[in-house]
Amino acid sequence: MHVFQPLPLDLFELNPFTKLNKEWAIVTAGTKKEANPMTVSWGGLGTLWNKSVITIYIRESRYTKEYLDKNDFFSLSFLPNENRNALSVCGSVSGKDCDKWEESGLTLNSRLGIPFPDESSLVFLCKKLACIPMTSDTFTDNEINKKFYENGDYHYMYIGEIMDAMAR
Ligand SMILES: Cc1cc2nc3c(=O)[nH]c(=O)nc-3n(C[C@H](O)[C@H](O)[C@H](O)COP(=O)(O)O)c2cc1C
Repeated sequence: MHVFQPLPLDLFELNPFTKLNKEWAIVTAGTKKEANPMTVSWGGLGTLWNKSVITIYIRESRYTKEYLDKNDFFSLSFLPNENRNALSVCGSVSGKDCDKWEESGLTLNSRLGIPFPDESSLVFLCKKLACIPMTSDTFTDNEINKKFYENGDYHYMYIGEIMDAMAR
């Protein structure tokens, strides 16, 4: 397993518009023994309720949602570019159908009992604070509803407090 160093949040320099959208990231939810890694490219890092938070958007149909709902913590991790294929796998197959660790070649690691892929270069360990459902009533612009949710598979906003960030 790799050795990770703690990284104070005030030392961060990252572009919030490209970091997730271009690099992609892995959300890992579950326990240190059993967890499911899923690729995300929508989300945000910021401040809410006087806390440093990460927001992720998870559709109802994702297996990851079951793990997020059952557990109080999750991680958001960025991986070196050589793992792009593993991110594609974790973004196209479901943990409902297979073991995504085996399928992607990623390795389950954990800290403070919170699971994350050992191949990560940067990991945010988060404590779940809120899960906010989107519904057809959520949107002030109905085009969004039509464009993204025609099949009724709405996103849930999960807001997590960043407990720890670490890098290698
Ligand atoms: C680049 C990329 C970004 C994605 N971003 C999200 C996202 O932000 N939210 C989401 O619900 N699904 C997203 N997905 C789709 C899930 O990763 C995909 O459906 C995955 O197979 C679900 O896995 P699970 O069922 O094991 O949770 C993304 C897929 C890719 C390839």
